[in-house]
Order: sequence, then structure tokens, then C-alpha cells
Amino acid sequence: MKKIGILTGGGDCPGLNAVIRAVVKKSLKYHWEVIGILDGWKGLIEGNILPLTAQHISGILPKGGTILGTSRTNPFKDQKNVDAVLSNMKKFKIDALIVIGGEDTLGVALKLYKLGVPVIGVPKTIDNDISGTDYTFGFDTAVSIVTDAIDRLHTTAESHHRIMVLEVMGRHAGWIATVSGIAGGADEILIPEIPFHIEDVCKNLKARHDSGKRFSIVVASEGAKPSDIDHFETLSEEKDEFGHVRLGGIGQRLAKEIEKRLGVETRFTVLGHVQRGGSPTAYDRVLATRYGVVAVELVKDGHFGKMVALRGYKIVPVDLTESVTKLRTVDMDLYNIATTFFAKPHNE
Ligand code: F6P
Repeated sequence: MKKIGILTGGGDCPGLNAVIRAVVKKSLKYHWEVIGILDGWKGLIEGNILPLTAQHISGILPKGGTILGTSRTNPFKDQKNVDAVLSNMKKFKIDALIVIGGEDTLGVALKLYKLGVPVIGVPKTIDNDISGTDYTFGFDTAVSIVTDAIDRLHTTAESHHRIMVLEVMGRHAGWIATVSGIAGGADEILIPEIPFHIEDVCKNLKARHDSGKRFSIVVASEGAKPSDIDHFETLSEEKDEFGHVRLGGIGQRLAKEIEKRLGVETRFTVLGHVQRGGSPTAYDRVLATRYGVVAVELVKDGHFGKMVALRGYKIVPVDLTESVTKLRTVDMDLYNIATTFFAKPHNE
């Protein structure tokens, strides 16, 4: 009989509960116990746990968020917190730890693995920016929310003959902007991977309007940055425990500039945390469920220091090192597909 610990860390996303449910269900088949750790690494530092039974997971598959709670706590900010994590692993007799998180949370998991903690990682984030896997769960849901928003902005943009700027999440990688921009038919997509000139964006929009179109949709990742400015637009400079500031404001800045330069009425919308809330799509439920089941299988086989990953249609184990050392940025072939639909001035 084994005791598995499970935690969810970092920003929440739809599908976390589907993983928790799958881990508990699969573990119960082996007659193993599952200990839920509350609020990410904070719970393991403070010894805050919730033993999970079949009752806890009943009905949670379609529920957004995480029944375990989450936090952006980084135990490695203070050695005494690392010691607390190690001692609570012993105190609760946890044989294996399943860690569901993004780059930061999985980075902590890797460091703990190197200290001898048996960990398995599960990649989550709406940003889809974790290396080693084709997709993280949560991304598909975010893309469908953003696509719906673009569709809605289209009708009001058309009626008022306006330019609409939509700011979406994506700190270092523009996956959400690119994929939902393609799905929603955006006329310009700005992503962190490609610094842009506002002048070029305006030229493209002007070309579109000169061709007779009376509205446009611009989708911008929160981390998109004009090349002539050396800082990101932020809502707060205060850093979290992993050193991240709160991004935000590029949509407003762009809208102001576009209106000033083109003389076309322009509005901006910031989707913010709406993108991370609510029920996961069927795709995310299935992906999260597969991740959860395979994570338990890896525990059974003693394959620690791994992350479950989607490669093609298969779920496979990859080294945690591979997943946290490099960020997965937008595939330029995909971005180039999106640019096919941007208007260009005649001479370009
Ligand atoms: O990491 C996922 C993410 O959604 C980023 O895209 C975004 O910058 C950040 O989380 C927002 O975090 P918070 O919920 O702490 O405001």
C-alpha cells in the first residue's frame, strides 16, 4: 500500500480537478491512499493536508479551478521552508508526490527530486509554454473562451466601424493570442516572441481600411512589446516569489496609439482571469484525465523525476529537466499561417 501526495501550484486552470479525480480513482484501484496538499507548496511547508476519498472527487470532473487550492509559494526562497517540505513528506509518510503545475511549480519539483523526493510532474497552464509536451491542459479551454470573445467583438466592431484591441494572457509565449487569433480571424496578432513597431501595425490596419474594410480586430498577448520600448506594460512592479511582475496594459496602450495615428475609433478589452475560469472543454478534460492516470502508472513503475507529456497522440514520460529548462514559445510556422490574414500595404 502506497501513500501518494498531490498538489496544484501556480495559476489555476480548467482541468486541474480532472487530474485530481483521475489520480484518486486510479490510486484507489491499487488500494493506495491519496493525500491532498492544500494551496500548493504552501500546504507542504505548513503541513496542511486533506486525505482524499471517493467522496471528495465526486462531481469534480467538469468543475474549473482546483479543490485543493493553489498558491505561488516558492519553498526555495528560504531553506527552512525546504526543510519543512522534507520533514512533512516524512511526517505524512508520503511515498510519491504528484505535482500539477507550470514552469515554476515544476521547477520546484525538479529541485526536490534532486534532493531525493520521488516526484512526478503534470504540466498545466493556459499559456501552453511548457517544453517537452505538445499541449498543457487548460490551453484549449482558454483558446475557446478567447475565440468566443473575438467573435463577440467582431459584431460590435462591425456595427460601430471600430478597431477592437483584445489583450489576452501569455507572459512569455503568445500561444493563446496566435491560436485564438487564427480561430477568430484576427487582423493583427502581437506576441511576446516578436517585438513589433506600432507604426507597422498601423500601416497594416490602414491598408485594411483603405481596401474598404470598416473594422479590425487586433489580438495582443499581455507580454507583447513594441521594439522601441525597453519595458513591458505592467499592472504592478511587485514581484511574486518566482520573480514575476504583473503584466497588463498593452491593450490600452495600443488602442490609444492606433486611434491617435489612424483617426479610427478604437476600443480595448482585457479578458484577464476570465480565460482561466470555468469548466474545461472536453479536450482538456480528456487530456487532464489521461495525465492523471499515467502519472499514477509512473508512480507504480517507480519512474520518478519525470513529467507526463503529450507527444502526438501518446502520453509519455519525459525528464522534468527537459520541461523546465526552456520555455516553449510559439511555433513560427503556425504564426506565419496567422500572418497570411493580416493586411499589408500595397508596396510590401
Ligand atoms: O501563468 C499563467 C498566467 O495566466 C499568465 O498568463 C499570467 O501572466 C499570470 O498567470 C497571471 O497570474 P495571476 O493569477 O497571479 O494574476
